[in-house]
Amino acid sequence: MPLGKSIALWFSLLGFFAAPLLRAASADEIWWKHAVIYEIYPRSFQDSNGDGVGDLNGITQRLDYLKDLGIDAIWIAPLYPSPQVDFGYDISDYQAVDPQYGTMADFDRLLAEAQKRNIRIIMDAVMNHTSDKHPWFIESAASRTNPKADWYVWRDGKGPGQPPNNWLSTFGHSAWQFDPKRDQYYYHYFYIQQPDLNWRNPQVEKAMFDMLRFWLDKGVAGFRLDAVPTLFEDPSLKDEKVLPGKNKFGDPNEETKLQDNLPEVHGVIQRMRTMIDGYPNNRVLIGETYLPNVEELDKWYGGAKHDELQLPMDMMVGFEDKLNAAEFRRRINDAETKLHGSQPLFVFDNHDNPRTAYRYGDGEHNKAIDQMLATVLFTTRSTAMMYYGDEIEMPTTIPARKEDVKDPIGVTGWPAEKGRDGERTPMQWNSSTAAGFSTNPHTWLPVAPDYKQVNVEAESHDPASMLSWYKKLIALRRDDPAIHDGDMKMLETGNQRIVAWSRKASNGETVVVACNFSPDEQTVSLGKSRAKTLAASGEATPAGIDLNAVKLAPFGSLVAEVQ
Ligand code: NOJ
Repeated sequence: MPLGKSIALWFSLLGFFAAPLLRAASADEIWWKHAVIYEIYPRSFQDSNGDGVGDLNGITQRLDYLKDLGIDAIWIAPLYPSPQVDFGYDISDYQAVDPQYGTMADFDRLLAEAQKRNIRIIMDAVMNHTSDKHPWFIESAASRTNPKADWYVWRDGKGPGQPPNNWLSTFGHSAWQFDPKRDQYYYHYFYIQQPDLNWRNPQVEKAMFDMLRFWLDKGVAGFRLDAVPTLFEDPSLKDEKVLPGKNKFGDPNEETKLQDNLPEVHGVIQRMRTMIDGYPNNRVLIGETYLPNVEELDKWYGGAKHDELQLPMDMMVGFEDKLNAAEFRRRINDAETKLHGSQPLFVFDNHDNPRTAYRYGDGEHNKAIDQMLATVLFTTRSTAMMYYGDEIEMPTTIPARKEDVKDPIGVTGWPAEKGRDGERTPMQWNSSTAAGFSTNPHTWLPVAPDYKQVNVEAESHDPASMLSWYKKLIALRRDDPAIHDGDMKMLETGNQRIVAWSRKASNGETVVVACNFSPDEQTVSLGKSRAKTLAASGEATPAGIDLNAVKLAPFGSLVAEVQ
């Protein structure tokens, strides 16, 4: 063989052995245990018809982008007909598509196109309440004797002009609204236009389960259950305990023990789980579960019985909102060790909270901090849920003036509560009109001012961008056996600045991950061997490193394979 050719052969063989051992996908693995789930707020993702509001055909147009990013499933926030008081979370028909988002035929096409790309669709199931324009509520409100009279939570007032008790809506002011037709109050945990259903009435459960079956029969992969801990209220209707001070709406500061996370909800969830387990292909129930501690979270899995939700969201890690290494380690470790072996689901961002840079950033190192948080999200053993725009580091753009606010809580609560518009701005695709989100410059919320620099097109050409970092981590999560499903063990458990862990695959491959939670460079020992860098954020880290003295840039993170 000529010398040139034999050298080339040697190099290609060397490249083959140096490449990380790629994981062979197994057909029967449970997809949601390793998934990256991408939340789409449909108003804000892609407008296909130039009305300034996103729609289903817009999502279909962007499926190739999502495939390339490497995600496994999309959760679409409510797309059903709605008066849009709470931007879709006030539903007037559960089995149709809001005309401003398209038609059922558009939905079917989206589902089919997503399936072709092996992307699953998760629906938002809003079962605590309907819109006050839903035919069920209109009928229920008409009299005290109609067939749906008991489908909502109706009570007499304590006296003229006095609601049944002191319960508050989480969106401000009394949770009771008087209706003169029935001469009674109805209960609403959210807006006045979102009356709570009465889950003590078995007909309500039946109607809701029928609705879930309608979507399961179409082939959706599962549901994200909206506000599911609030399905039940304490029937005693005793007053909530009043604590000192006022809340952000200027109301008394009250407990919510009689309105939230009541034990009765678990019976419903067990029956729902039995129902969806009757469907093939591992359908999944995900819960919007803001809970106070890991013991409460465990109950939502069904504890040791594992017979409730497969994936209640663990909001304790992602919404800690302080870069405290010890607290992060404790919360991640709780999810590893105190859930009876259930699969954790971490979430750092959604359509209800300012984005991570706003909550965790220090103004100077925001990008490094966001990169490090992405390392936590994608390289722990947790299922990962991300929010559209995280991958390009979209900003939080809170309206400067009350008159520009679209989210009603921002109007009720201004200035202490400015609403959720800031995290719902249109997706930034490129530097053209309306950031490529729409051909219409008048989008439903203004495009964030930084879109000329911060957009998918610009970041896809930049290896140092957030988009490139996300793609790298998501690819490692899919292809590297240790990160994909290796066991997890916390390292350096007393360290106040660094959170580190190892992942070990069944083939013995071990990967270590270290995250620097401090603004200073840190050196840490994670073992005695050498390791090969798989991904590093912060300043450049050499490809081969000595695990005894790993250097981490300020808020830097490292993923390295032990040699
Ligand atoms: C939680 C949703 O995420 C939020 O956007 C909505 O306002 C409430 N539930 C009421 O449905």
